[in-house]
Amino acid sequence: MTKRTIILGIESSCDDTSAAILKEKKILSNVISNQEVHSLYGGVVPELASRAHQQNIIPVVDAAIQKAGVKKHDINAVAYTNGPGLLGSLLVGSSFAKSFAMGMGIPIIAVNHMQAHILAHFIDEEKKTPAFPFLCLTVSGGHTQIVKVENTNKMTIIGTTIDDAAGEAFDKSAKILGLKYPGGPLIDRYAKNGDIHAFKFGKPKVKDLDFSFSGLKTSILYKIKENIRNEPNFIKENLEDLCASIQYSIVSILIEKIQKSIDITGIKEIAIAGGVSANSYLRKRLQELSHKNNYKLYIPKFEYCTDNAAMIAIAGYYKHLNREFAKQNETPSPSLTF
Ligand code: KG4
Ligand code: ZN
Repeated sequence: MTKRTIILGIESSCDDTSAAILKEKKILSNVISNQEVHSLYGGVVPELASRAHQQNIIPVVDAAIQKAGVKKHDINAVAYTNGPGLLGSLLVGSSFAKSFAMGMGIPIIAVNHMQAHILAHFIDEEKKTPAFPFLCLTVSGGHTQIVKVENTNKMTIIGTTIDDAAGEAFDKSAKILGLKYPGGPLIDRYAKNGDIHAFKFGKPKVKDLDFSFSGLKTSILYKIKENIRNEPNFIKENLEDLCASIQYSIVSILIEKIQKSIDITGIKEIAIAGGVSANSYLRKRLQELSHKNNYKLYIPKFEYCTDNAAMIAIAGYYKHLNREFAKQNETPSPSLTF
């Protein structure tokens, strides 16, 4: 019987410490430790993030191995996030991955975090996987991209943000509303009972398939300042409508560009990835769009939307098939692209 490949995946690019065990394309465990500490500051504090990764990495890896029911000696390779991300955070995961692999005498695999978000669609879960070529809208706290995926190795960014990312637009708007970090899930929750047309915000004009969200943030800020002058309780009294209108604006920008990318490329196989793909209204709008136009839509499971090591492990699996190993002196790259 051929031996099945077992990969330990490690993710530490931002504020989640995660470890996963993958056997061939199946996930045996995916342990994630979130860092509560940042909620007090309205955003991720890089120095605190790397310290928390340092504290969490060993217990998280230990838990992933225990939960998977494998032995350390069964692991064939360690895949880790090599970028993009916060340097101090990336250094903790990559240093751990290198030491572990050196100790066990196994290879290391350097993974691009954004490509891993996309490859999460290929985790074997008895659900249909996108057919090549497909378009992936990758929307996270640090990135907003439309990627043309030709195979698991060949991906091209055909649209990107020229300023803030979609997740940042959610988080910064939430901060203006006085909500805790990360504000995206909170806006999603409050928006459920709000009116999407209650407030109108400026719409960006950006050419081709690129995005811009910084003007929207300014428009939200001015609208709120203007109303608070006459009505001090304006935010509290309109929170649900404000969240629904903000969410509508952000999602509409995304939908417009995904539609444009379908028109330009003729590709009707659509996937979404990254933290913002957990947004219920984005999912709803994409489902409506796909239903109406006969597009095939692929939405990842919630646990594989936000940062997780399962996606790093599956990306590592494909690199392992090609024997694409990294060297011990490879350094993480905060602005890694592809
Ligand atoms: O992919 P991710 O976990 O981390 C990065 O690689 O950045 O994405 C995090 C982002 C945050 O901005 C967070 O607010 C956003 O994803 N997010 C959401 C939702 N869940 C997470 N945004 C809107 N609605 C959600 N339900
Ligand atoms: Zn991410």
